[in-house]
Parts: sequence; C-alpha cells; structure tokens
Amino acid sequence: MKNFVEAHNRVKDFDWEPSYAAKPVRYPTRYKIPAKTKDPFRHLLRDYFSMEEEKDNRQYGALEDALARSNAPARAERRWMEIMKVALPVLNFGEYAAMKSTGQLIETIENAELRQGYMAQMLDEVRHTNQEAYLVRYFARHAADPEGFTQAFKFRGANIFNRAGRAALETFFVGDPIEGALNLQVVAETGYTNPIFVAMTEVAAANGDQATPSVFLSIQSDESRHMANGYSTLAAAVSNPDNLPFLQADFDRAFWRQHAFLDPFVGAVYDYFQSNRSSSYGEKWNEWIHEDWVGCYIEKLAPFGLKAPRWYPHARERMQWLHHTAAMFAFASWPLQFWRFDPLTDADMEWFERKYPGWYGVYGAFWKEYGKMIDPRDKMVPLSLFQSLPPLCRVCQMPCVFPRPDMTTMRVKAHAGKMHAFCGDACEFIFDEDPQRYLGYETFYELYDGCDLADYIRKNGLLRSDGKTLMAQPSLDDNKMWTIDDIAALKIEIKNPLRELVP
Ligand code: BEZ
Ligand code: FE
Ligand code: FE
Repeated sequence: MKNFVEAHNRVKDFDWEPSYAAKPVRYPTRYKIPAKTKDPFRHLLRDYFSMEEEKDNRQYGALEDALARSNAPARAERRWMEIMKVALPVLNFGEYAAMKSTGQLIETIENAELRQGYMAQMLDEVRHTNQEAYLVRYFARHAADPEGFTQAFKFRGANIFNRAGRAALETFFVGDPIEGALNLQVVAETGYTNPIFVAMTEVAAANGDQATPSVFLSIQSDESRHMANGYSTLAAAVSNPDNLPFLQADFDRAFWRQHAFLDPFVGAVYDYFQSNRSSSYGEKWNEWIHEDWVGCYIEKLAPFGLKAPRWYPHARERMQWLHHTAAMFAFASWPLQFWRFDPLTDADMEWFERKYPGWYGVYGAFWKEYGKMIDPRDKMVPLSLFQSLPPLCRVCQMPCVFPRPDMTTMRVKAHAGKMHAFCGDACEFIFDEDPQRYLGYETFYELYDGCDLADYIRKNGLLRSDGKTLMAQPSLDDNKMWTIDDIAALKIEIKNPLRELVP
C-alpha cells in the first residue's frame, strides 16, 4: 500500500451489506444522513490499537507501580476521596452509555466515513468503562476509608444522585441514535468533558489524588476524537434540509437534559469537596461552556441553521445558584447516601462568598446549622431543618429545588392518573412532547415511600462491615460515627411529598 490515505480508503471499501439477507432495523432514525461525508477519523485501526495500548499500559502501570507502592491514595485529601465514591460510578455509567450509543450509530448510519469514527469511539468507551471501574476497585483497595468504594456500583440502582445521573446519561442511547449522538458527542463530550474530566483532574491533583488524573487525562485525550465525531455527525445532519425541523428540537432537549444533571452534580463535586482550592466551577463553566462551547462551537453552526439551545439563557441564569442548592440538598440528605460529608469551614465559606458574591446571605445559615449536627449524641440530622423533602422531577429526577429553595420553579400536575413534579418549564415541556418516555422511570420516593429511614439503610446495604456503623457520615470525624441505632431512634419516614396530592 503506497500510503495511509490509500490504505484508509481501501479499508472503507469493505463496508458492505450482504445481498442474501435483509438487515434488520434495530435502531431506526428519522434523520437522512448522506452516504459519503468527510472523514472524522484519519487513523487506521491498526495505528489506533498501538496508540491506545501504549496509553493503557502507562496508566495501569503507574497505578500499580509507583502510586500503589507509595500508598498515594491513602494520603490524598479525605474530603476529595469521599466524593469520588459517587462521582466515579455516575461517570462510569456514562461510559457504558457512550459505548451503547456509538454501537447503535455503527449499526444505523450507512456511511463508511462516519462508521470508522464511531468504531474507534466505541472501542474507546469500552476502555473507559474498564478504566473507571478499575479505578473504583483500586480505591477500594487503597483509600484511607474504602467503605463505599467497595459497593459503589451496587448503589447505582437506589441512590438519588445515581438515579438522576442515569436519567441524563441514558439519553445517549434510548432514543433515535442521532439524538443520542447530540446528547453524547455534541453536548456532553464537546461541551462538558472539559469541565468534567479536565477540571476534576486539576482538583484531584491539587488535593493529593494522583490516581484520578492518570486515568482521566488518558480518557480526555480520546475525547477530541469523539468531539470530531460529533461535529461530523452534525455536519452530515445539517447537510440535508429535511433534518432541520427536528434537529433543533432534539438539540434543545439534549442540552437541557445534560445541563439539568451535570451542572448541579459536577458543580457540587468540584466546589464542595476540594480542600486545596483554586478556581470555582462557575469560572470553569464560563470559560468552557459559555465562551468555548456556545461562543465558538455553536456559533459556527449558525450558517447551517442551528441556533444555541432554546433553554441556554435560562440555564446560564440558573448557574449562579444551581450547584450550591444541589450541595445543600446532598449534605442535608446525608443519611441516604454512601459517602462521608465534610462540613464547610469558615475559610471555605469566605472562599464561596468571594467566588459567588451573595452566597453567604442565601446559604450561610444552613452551613452554620449543619456544623452543629454532626455528633450523634445531639440526635439531630439536617433533614429536620426542612418541612418536607422536595419532590423529584419526573424528567431529570433531580430535586425540585432549583435554582434556589426560596425561588423554585417547580410545578406539579396530573397525568395518566398520577401526580408528577417538574423542576421547571424545560422539563415540563420535554415531558409534554412525549410523556411515554418518562413515565416508566419511577422516582426515588415512589420506590421508597413509607419506608423508615433505618430500614432503607439496612435494606440497601448502607452499613459498614461491622454491620452497625453507617457508611455515610456527616463528617470525617472518626469519633463521631453514626450507627444504625442512632438513625432508628429518630424514627424518620421517607415520605413521597406528592403522596397526599390525588389527581
Ligand atoms: C464519555 O464517555 O464521553 C462521557 C462519559 C460521561 C459523561 C460525559 C461523557
Ligand atoms: Fe468516554
Ligand atoms: Fe467519550
């Protein structure tokens, strides 16, 4: 073969369909994609394999060799390590969903150039799924407090934040495969992997965790290829005007579904679980989502008729409060979780007020109260500060408390004999477009309504290996560990806030 370009073209010639059997349509799309487009991926798979093998060897080698021998994870900041117990299983589900999405695209999109790109991405996502699962297991072996890492994947079914994460990341593969590509490649990868993978790497390193950067930097170096797939997929979709009427609606929905979960979740992970502080999530968001993604990437698509997502201005406005509210909800509901929470210090609070002027006036009182409720002998949990828990949104599965508890945009309505809460206009609109898509996913409260909190904890295996100390704790203080008896004595019932509202 004279050169790689020729070899590459030859490989794509082998993209054939058998004449002796009709291909089943497993993942139908309403998009019309041209049979030939520009190639997002000019590597032969042979080069791809050797490059990725080298990267994997370096990553797994570093983890097992120098980092394990120096016991590095046990010396990382505890506050940071705790949040990895939930962040990793959420992201790991995203990798699995990304793998399914790209598998569907390979199957459905009749275009050899695009398929080459999807093929490499699918292999990447299989690797990422394994890399992150490996990191969870690695932390279960090496972290100072491994409880939580040990069962992290099991908790994905019942935990509120994991359930909301799944709702957002399932969009990669539950609809039209091109809608999946918009969610995954155009929004999550091009927009959000910088604030997720790069920013988390920065915070991890600053907080003494060297294992996470070695995994996530390796992963992020694949994401530029996935972003290129997204751009090529979009370019192919906009090239046929028949696609435009539903492309914008699919894109609007994709942005909202990712924003509704990723911004409150990643923002809380980033800002509320650092000890050695640098930039804020708000600053990262402005740089990467507002300036780069909307300002450069989406604006370049304007000539093709694609506009910034419909709810983008609203999302930007919410960013002032969103993840602070989410963090308050997470800390307040600590007994429902499986990791430890470290109360904010005065220095943390000064940082928040500096980075987010006006923060203290809204959230300061909660944090002052929270600090008084960490000792089990005081018999108080922050859940008791609130009259009732907020309902969960039928679409995004996040608590309906946004942007702030005192100015929530929540609404409740009846549909098909049942009450449904929505966090705001966008999720309600998305529900009304196609309710069937959301009705089957029960909220946390529908699953556990009426359950005693202590029973919930026992039933879901949220106890440490001694069978009595809670996996979750409101602080990092080993002398103030809550047990199941402390919780049982409080007699708290998990109550669906919509229970008494009859349609
Ligand atoms: C990815 O695999 O590309 C991905 C995973 C989780 C969230 C966003 C993107
Ligand atoms: Fe990935
Ligand atoms: Fe990816």
